[in-house]
Amino acid sequence: MNRLTAPSDLADPTFSDAVISWQKIHGRHALPWQNTTDAYRIWLSEIMLQQTQVAAVLGYYARFLERFPDVKTLAAAPSEDVMAHWAGLGYYTRARNLHACAKRVAAEYDGVFPGDPALLADLPGIGRSTAAAIAAFSGGFRAAIMDGNVKRVFARVFGIDQYPGEKRVEEALWRRADALLPVAGIESYTQGLMDLGATLCTRSRPACERCPLQDRCVAYATGRTAELPIRKPKKTIPEKHTQMLVIVDAGQVVLHQRVASGIWGGLVSLPEVDGHLAALDTAPQDEAMLRAAGIFGAVEEMEALLPLVHGFTHYKLTIQPFRVALAQRNILPAGYLWHDMATIEDAALPSPVKKLLAQLALPSLFN
Ligand code: ADE
Ligand code: SF4
Repeated sequence: MNRLTAPSDLADPTFSDAVISWQKIHGRHALPWQNTTDAYRIWLSEIMLQQTQVAAVLGYYARFLERFPDVKTLAAAPSEDVMAHWAGLGYYTRARNLHACAKRVAAEYDGVFPGDPALLADLPGIGRSTAAAIAAFSGGFRAAIMDGNVKRVFARVFGIDQYPGEKRVEEALWRRADALLPVAGIESYTQGLMDLGATLCTRSRPACERCPLQDRCVAYATGRTAELPIRKPKKTIPEKHTQMLVIVDAGQVVLHQRVASGIWGGLVSLPEVDGHLAALDTAPQDEAMLRAAGIFGAVEEMEALLPLVHGFTHYKLTIQPFRVALAQRNILPAGYLWHDMATIEDAALPSPVKKLLAQLALPSLFN
């Protein structure tokens, strides 16, 4: 009926045969949005099911349809009324898009949903996969779905060992899904993929012993059902490094009043020298710190202490402290002050700096 341009090397009619045969016997057939071709009812169910499980959707679905039996009624309803019937389902952007979509279908299509998935996907809240599901269930249109469940089934059956959320991997999954569409029986096939993902090929402990795809499943054959699909790679959090001077003299420590903006804005901290940890224990680094310390007085002694790692939300900061003992004080540059160690608790210090000073067991530095 409709066009399908799929690369033939991915095609395999036995795949959809297996899904369709299984769906007819073991799939779900009595859900309230099945056994209808009413695109409004199918659309509503698909939107509700996008981020919510079937069991949670059932009651909302029935109450929603009772109040808004068709798309024109929904389009004409006040938004507060629509939101009230969605309240508790969560992801409320769905409800706002739902209402906007109903208004467009009423205005642009006289209340009749278009049959073409490309036109459906142009409407608010309807992505490529949802458009395909609506078109398949309401009009028998051959189009591929690719939701989280289908990604999991495909990743396991075809042993796809890259994260399916990545663009290139997702594109490859769509190409496979297109190539595997059945010539006939798109409704059973589409529902079958959903049912497989929801009832057998579950995230944890899939029921492979009952699965119609077991004989072709790479994950099953290689014992990798627990590893596939590959989970979202953790973002590598950036690391930053800084050096701090712990300049102590006569029961006092030098602190720096930070400017109001930026990290630790308005707080006091230890004098800081930005740098790179790579060169930390080499002589030039020490010399740089020694030069920096020299601003505050005649350095009697300088010693690198153990670094402290502090985790922020968006990066990790490694602080390399240097303890400096002065033989003689200089007049401090603007923004610096001598603070009594006895009352250091009262200073507005950032927590890692507080921790650092506490770890140094500072009283022993002032003997
Ligand atoms: N999830 C999304 N669409 C569904 C459908 N038609 N039946 C069951 N679960 C679904
Ligand atoms: Fe999923 Fe197991 Fe079936 Fe493979 S054999 S598709 S892992 S249920």
